[in-house]
Amino acid sequence: MRIYLIGYMGCGKSTLGKKLAKRLNVQFIDMDDYLEARNYKTIPQIFAEEGEDAFRIKERKALEELVEFTDVVIATGGGAPCFFDNMDLMNRTGKTLFLNMAPSILASRLLQSKTDRPLIRGKSKAELIDFIDETLKKRRPFYEKAHYQITNPDIGLNNLLELIDIRSDQ
Ligand code: S3P
Repeated sequence: MRIYLIGYMGCGKSTLGKKLAKRLNVQFIDMDDYLEARNYKTIPQIFAEEGEDAFRIKERKALEELVEFTDVVIATGGGAPCFFDNMDLMNRTGKTLFLNMAPSILASRLLQSKTDRPLIRGKSKAELIDFIDETLKKRRPFYEKAHYQITNPDIGLNNLLELIDIRSDQ
């Protein structure tokens, strides 16, 4: 079993992914953490030293490795589904779940977050909302290819397992 959580930065993929993995008694992997460990560099370092294009290639390579893992819940980077044929690769190799959240909520959550995200660093709330609106327009068609989607991150694990058609003893 392999489950991919996808969605915009700050939508709660890692938090939900950890809970889901615990409940299913499987491994949890955060793609960003995996990528940093494999490259011996943080994501901000990769963006600063090599640029976004190089980051996307590293992200693709990380995904190609992660599709080999079994019994795992993977929280993907917010942009991962939107480059190369990453979304199709995930759809072919597991169940994909899109955490769909409104831009205003994403903006508030991102302003509170301690994670350093190069794409949104230093933005005010208004700038952040504009940026999210603009990028979501491009990203949504990719996210919407997911097998399942939820709009309420507090859906509850039982309901979620039912939605994605998984029994916790599986
Ligand atoms: C990115 C999202 C980040 C990280 C990188 C780029 C994006 O992951 O991969 O900063 O393009 O949306 P999170 O979604 O875990 O913040």
